[in-house]
Amino acid sequence: MRTYTRGAPTVFFISTLWVLLIPVVANIDSSGGIKFLGGNYEGTHPMLYFGQTEVEVLQRAAMETHKDLAQQIRQAGEAIMERPEEYLPPWNPEEFSARWNEVYGNNLGLLSMFCLLYPHRSGALDIAKEYMERMAAQPNWLVKDAPWDEVPMAHSLVGFATAYDFLYEYLSTVQQERFLQVIGNASHYMYEKSYHRGWGFQYLHNHQPTNCVALLTGSLVLMNQGYLQEAYLWTKQALAIMEKSMVLLQDVTDGSLYEGVAYGSYTTRSLFQYMYLVQRHFDIGHFSHPWLHKHFAFLYRTLLPGFQRSVAIADSNYNWFYGPESQLVFLDRYVMRNGSGNWLADIIRQNRVLEGPGQAGRGQRWCTLHTEFLWYDASLQPTPPRDYGTPRLHFFEDWGVVTFGSSLPAGRNHSFLSFKSGKLGGRAIFDIVHHQKYKDWIKGWRNFNAGHEHPDQNSFTFAPNGVPFITEGLYGPKYTSLNNVVMFGPAVSESCFAPWEGQVTEACNSKWLKYKHGQAADCHGRVEVAQEQQGMVFIRGEGMAAYNSELKIQNFQRNLLLINPQLLLMVDHIHLDSSSPTRIISAFFHNTDLPFQNTQDDGVHGALIRNGNESYKMFWLDDMGSSESATVGYRSYPRGYPYNGSNYVNVTMPLRNPTSRVAYIFFGPGEDVQSFSVHGDSERLNIYLGTRKHTYTICILTAEASTKAPYAIVLTDQKKVVFESALEIKEQPVKEVEEYVNVVEDRLQHVKPVFQQLERHILSRVRNTDKFHKTAEHLLKFSQKRNTAGNLDIIGFYKKQGKGKGGKKTILSDSLPDIFARIEANEKKERQLSMKHVYEEVPDEGNDDSRTFIDYSDVRKGRKVGFIKGRKFKEVQIVATAEMEDTPSSTSYIRLFLISNIATFFLLLAVLLTRFQRAQTLHTQRFLYFVLLLDSFILLYLYSSCSQTQC
Ligand SMILES: *[C@@H]1O[C@H](CO)[C@@H](O)[C@H](O)[C@H]1NC(C)=O
Ligand SMILES: *[C@@H]1O[C@H](CO)[C@@H](O)[C@H](O)[C@H]1NC(C)=O
Ligand SMILES: *[C@@H]1O[C@H](CO)[C@@H](O)[C@H](O)[C@H]1NC(C)=O
Ligand SMILES: *[C@@H]1O[C@H](CO)[C@@H](O)[C@H](O)[C@H]1NC(C)=O
Ligand SMILES: *[C@@H]1O[C@H](CO)[C@@H](O)[C@H](O)[C@H]1NC(C)=O
Repeated sequence: MRTYTRGAPTVFFISTLWVLLIPVVANIDSSGGIKFLGGNYEGTHPMLYFGQTEVEVLQRAAMETHKDLAQQIRQAGEAIMERPEEYLPPWNPEEFSARWNEVYGNNLGLLSMFCLLYPHRSGALDIAKEYMERMAAQPNWLVKDAPWDEVPMAHSLVGFATAYDFLYEYLSTVQQERFLQVIGNASHYMYEKSYHRGWGFQYLHNHQPTNCVALLTGSLVLMNQGYLQEAYLWTKQALAIMEKSMVLLQDVTDGSLYEGVAYGSYTTRSLFQYMYLVQRHFDIGHFSHPWLHKHFAFLYRTLLPGFQRSVAIADSNYNWFYGPESQLVFLDRYVMRNGSGNWLADIIRQNRVLEGPGQAGRGQRWCTLHTEFLWYDASLQPTPPRDYGTPRLHFFEDWGVVTFGSSLPAGRNHSFLSFKSGKLGGRAIFDIVHHQKYKDWIKGWRNFNAGHEHPDQNSFTFAPNGVPFITEGLYGPKYTSLNNVVMFGPAVSESCFAPWEGQVTEACNSKWLKYKHGQAADCHGRVEVAQEQQGMVFIRGEGMAAYNSELKIQNFQRNLLLINPQLLLMVDHIHLDSSSPTRIISAFFHNTDLPFQNTQDDGVHGALIRNGNESYKMFWLDDMGSSESATVGYRSYPRGYPYNGSNYVNVTMPLRNPTSRVAYIFFGPGEDVQSFSVHGDSERLNIYLGTRKHTYTICILTAEASTKAPYAIVLTDQKKVVFESALEIKEQPVKEVEEYVNVVEDRLQHVKPVFQQLERHILSRVRNTDKFHKTAEHLLKFSQKRNTAGNLDIIGFYKKQGKGKGGKKTILSDSLPDIFARIEANEKKERQLSMKHVYEEVPDEGNDDSRTFIDYSDVRKGRKVGFIKGRKFKEVQIVATAEMEDTPSSTSYIRLFLISNIATFFLLLAVLLTRFQRAQTLHTQRFLYFVLLLDSFILLYLYSSCSQTQC
């Protein structure tokens, strides 16, 4: 008998364990603490980011905790009030569309926030209304010269829809209706275009979140106004695109964005709005996304001393396009919660450049003020990261960028060094393309757009004392020579600059980098070493794979050794194949602001810049001890770029076969190099440097790291610093997200219950009134076009219901047909037809790309939508919450059931332990154990479902 009762405590023990375990599982909260609305809208605005009741809270915050941010909004608002004609959009459509016009949408969010916070500021609302009137008077928001680009329209739409939401109650009924039409028209246009244009299928590119969030914002406003059919389709389309990109973003392990910091801030402006909106409206939580948890580094580790400039890799301005204060307070509030986001936002705000290079663009500077205000959490005390104040080495393994000395206060010896050598598009994208990952979505480079990158493998920047000495060329043509890299000669292909040959991605007849085809598609560099030892930094990159293979270059190895904050040594090691035709190399160095001058010291050639009364110098020598004079000058950019050009140094040297090395030294005013010599053999290069205070003997071992030998050794004043090869950077392949198609499907399932709940609300409000039929129709269509046969059926159904029997709400909610499934099915059918139509009759209109990537490609494959073999979609739990208002009892049922189950469990347990301890048949005992076990599982299930719906 003892043998049989032994089981009881075990069952009990297991159950207890489970109970202890579940809260841990349930605790992974990806909602960021943002409350899900559950489809319970009252048809009132605001609703996008906050509700009617929260407006007063915001107004109070503007006077208390958010005073500084409110001050910025106030100043911007007052600036508009002071000279409205300068800021109001033109009435005249020709004028409106004559140039890039994102500024109108960008400023409108701010203006409406200003009105909302200061409703008594006389005249403000009138200006805002006129602003909207003027925008509404445009036939569309496109730019005349770029009718294929929906980005300007997206800026207008997102601003306009946000203003509509914020200021709804101040608009006249006529305005409410007309503006809604405008939002509907623009959203409809965006929706249609999402099937044809790059932003629908080129993932992680800045246009994608920009346009999708505009579409989503428009759709949410329309949804709230009861246009459920259209809003449903549009919302799902925006989410279908963005959720895929959220999955792909999981492959980006370092929190970076491959387009660089400036464009990254463009992406995150919208991406963070997206995350906020889908959590609030659809309970799709992205706040535990691994990329998000790494993203702080992308802002913190890329900032030059003084907090005014960023590393500026790829197309870039001096720092950011949007924010980044808004993004930083968002990260702090919803992700980090340790005050470092608020701290960095603060310090960036304090150090803002107000005049000249580096100031925020006029069209962008106010665009994120409203979200910054909304997301700011004043309870997070600004706290610098613990390592703040000491220069740190950071490697972005996906982006291929190393930085050292970021985010320090400006000051003597606060130097910044960066190096870039990575895969085109970043490692994630490059590997997705080259290893055919995410096959259901991705068909090669056509699904990505690396057009903003530069031919810049093995490039670097250096800012001793925080003074930019060697800088990036910023937003310009995609020429190799505009980056701090090398070109070879003679050319082996139809190069842009024959007889010189640059990197394979160089483009001379396009504004965008070459990346889709041929050798360009496989372009990559690699950071091999990034180490810090006793205050010295050693970085090595290999850039051979960025050049034409016919140059027959075996290695283009660049070594950077930061000896002290004011002294940098760079060694380029070029190893040619014996059959290589390559004879000559030009290395380029840029400074966007200050001109270079030639200089010479003891027969060693060099160049310098003067910054005030101080000079920053560079010198070079090859391994034969010779040095050639450089060409210095200014390279003008063609028209159409935001910058005029860049100052450069062009150091051209002959190459020998098989190996050649060139050593460069760069130093600030705090150092004075008095002797510099170089000797090499096939394995190594020895460099002697004598400064006023120290002598350095440096050995760089350039041979491939097959041996256990170190990479570099520095000897100075009885100090020996060794950079070990054991610390080589190893590539870790990133796994594809498991069941990625289903992950996205699961999230898309969140949409329908919200719309169904809204449908119920709307119909129950007008039930048994004359308006019923009209409302029902209204639910279904926004444009005439949608009045298809299938929909008429549904209207007929509503009609019957409308005439129907008395006030039994349950009948209405329970027996509504699934109109959304039908809407979707109809749309799929139509979409397939119309896509076919487009390609058959007007082949130009849809190019190959969009044809391959239409989103209903799922349909083509037949089984991808809705049903996947052997798997049921995860139940979407929001229905329970969504129904809260109609049937508040449904969750309490669960609770009741849960409690009664707990009771049963313990009762059974007690019975088992007391009564049945004595004699019973074996069968009865087994049966009881079984019941107990079953019960504990039910308990478990209830508990987990309950914890998700917060019952
Ligand atoms: C919306 O589009 C329709 C059809 O294209 C057009 O007739 C209507 O004037 C537009 N409404 C507004 C307010 O722009
Ligand atoms: C806050 O979190 C970020 C991101 O994880 C981290 O880099 C930073 O050092 C943290 N700050 C503090 C004060 O711990
Ligand atoms: C800056 O660094 C140089 C070289 O390490 C050193 O000689 C000098 O004393 C430092 N200056 C300051 C102000 O720290
Ligand atoms: C250079 O100028 C700075 C201020 O711009 C001044 O403090 C410093 O003494 C000057 N140095 C020399 C060597 O003239
Ligand atoms: C760099 O200098 C060399 C030698 O003066 C010259 O032949 C070459 O055209 C220059 N390259 C560029 C891109 O200016």
